[in-house]
Amino acid sequence: MRKKIVAGNWKMNMNISEGLALAGSINKYFLDNPSKRAEAVLCTPFIHLAGVAETLKNSKLSLGAQNCASEPSGAFTGEVSCDMIKSTGAQYVIIGHSERRTYFNEDDKLLNKKTLLALKSGLTVIFCCGEVLPEREQNIYFQVVKKQLEVGLFNLQPEDFAKIVIAYEPVWAIGTGLTASPEQAQEMHSYIRSLIRERYGKEIADQTTILYGGSCKPSNASEIFAMPDVDGGLIGGASLKKDDFCAIVNAV
Ligand code: PGA
Repeated sequence: MRKKIVAGNWKMNMNISEGLALAGSINKYFLDNPSKRAEAVLCTPFIHLAGVAETLKNSKLSLGAQNCASEPSGAFTGEVSCDMIKSTGAQYVIIGHSERRTYFNEDDKLLNKKTLLALKSGLTVIFCCGEVLPEREQNIYFQVVKKQLEVGLFNLQPEDFAKIVIAYEPVWAIGTGLTASPEQAQEMHSYIRSLIRERYGKEIADQTTILYGGSCKPSNASEIFAMPDVDGGLIGGASLKKDDFCAIVNAV
């Protein structure tokens, strides 16, 4: 059985006390109502990591960052390295979110560099891919995602690739309220799995967790997560509300 994951991406929201309060309330909910099927992950801003790690001590919730530096250490003012992230107690890092690709010009080559560093630090990478609206309309979304995965991930050794989580996030669905239909999500997830099968073989393809992201909410999560190749979600806006996030985790 593949691991099911629901990861909340807080993005650039909440100050420290708000973030600790949210993490505390989600933690309390899952202590009282343990999640049976999915692992829940909170991906917070860097400055929250150490504090939230403390809040989540002895809990089943996991912690992640939303980005990492593309260099291991040194004179890179303002950057945060994978080793630093790991040292907070975080286990995950999101790499290649479309907002990083769009606003910070991160390309697949750079994302590949970050991915290799994150693996070296012992972090589990949630690698994001997905097409923008014109690419969907021009019917080139398969090629777009294929290239993102080929350049971003497919030079990894099989034992390293086996540790990757993929998140398919159609950019036109992020923060827009427009969700991919369950069929659209399934079509792409099964395509991604077929690419992994070609490159790494059936066993690794069958074990790879592929998350869907883009306007997931309690009202649509169950039908998307019911698709055979959808193994959970990467949740933006709805992860900032305890009740919504917990309901989405329970929808797996
Ligand atoms: P959204 O964001 O759920 O707010 O659409 C998803 C994401 O960006 O990961």
